[in-house]
Amino acid sequence: MQPSERPATDRVSLRPARPGDAELLRLWRGEPSVARHQPLGSVSVERLTIELAGQNHRDLYRSRGDKFQWIIEVDGRPAGWITLVATNWEHGLAELGYALSTPYQRRGITPRALDALLDDLFANTVLERIEARCAVSNTASAKVLQVVGFRQEGRLRAYFQLRGQRVDNYLFAILKSDRRS
Ligand SMILES: CC(C)(COP(=O)(O)OP(=O)(O)OC[C@H]1O[C@@H](n2cnc3c(N)ncnc32)[C@H](O)[C@@H]1OP(=O)(O)O)[C@@H](O)C(=O)NCCC(=O)NCCS
Repeated sequence: MQPSERPATDRVSLRPARPGDAELLRLWRGEPSVARHQPLGSVSVERLTIELAGQNHRDLYRSRGDKFQWIIEVDGRPAGWITLVATNWEHGLAELGYALSTPYQRRGITPRALDALLDDLFANTVLERIEARCAVSNTASAKVLQVVGFRQEGRLRAYFQLRGQRVDNYLFAILKSDRRS
């Protein structure tokens, strides 16, 4: 979709994922376009429910906890999700992942959702450096990361296995100071 064709009315917002979102997450993970460039193993609704029930978003602002997920909503409807894994609170490190359900892709939604989240994370948590990785074939994901200010820092050879092939990934990162500048 060309930018001029994008619906002007998309209202993008984020809310913490809840245990009741588990079925939606399982369905989205199974969409071919969502799994095309990343190895998303099948996970049961029960496991996702337990994982979501264990997440407390207040912990993020108290430098505790290790995994947090948000639902991206478009005009109030669930459209995709973002995952943040805090890898080291002492050094302010975390990793981001994200995906949109197929009908919501190519509408400029992910950059808007990430922009809002990064503003919040760098303003209200101790995080200083956030990393993201994508398969080198995932040009859409690399584009989105660059649009919101991530810099490509390297190429991770044979980083994961995708449909029987070892796949290189790009490593991207954004610093709190990048965001300020
Ligand atoms: C990758 C993804 C998050 C991009 O988010 P998005 O909101 O669709 O991105 P945008 O609409 O801002 O598009 C960014 C660029 O990628 C292109 N693009 C988006 N989705 C695409 C797709 N499925 N196939 C090919 N190109 C795509 C857009 O045309 C745009 O390019 P342009 O600026 O040259 O026009 C989204 O497509 C997605 O969820 N894909 C499946 C899951 C995934 O790969 N997650 C990331 C794992 S690292």
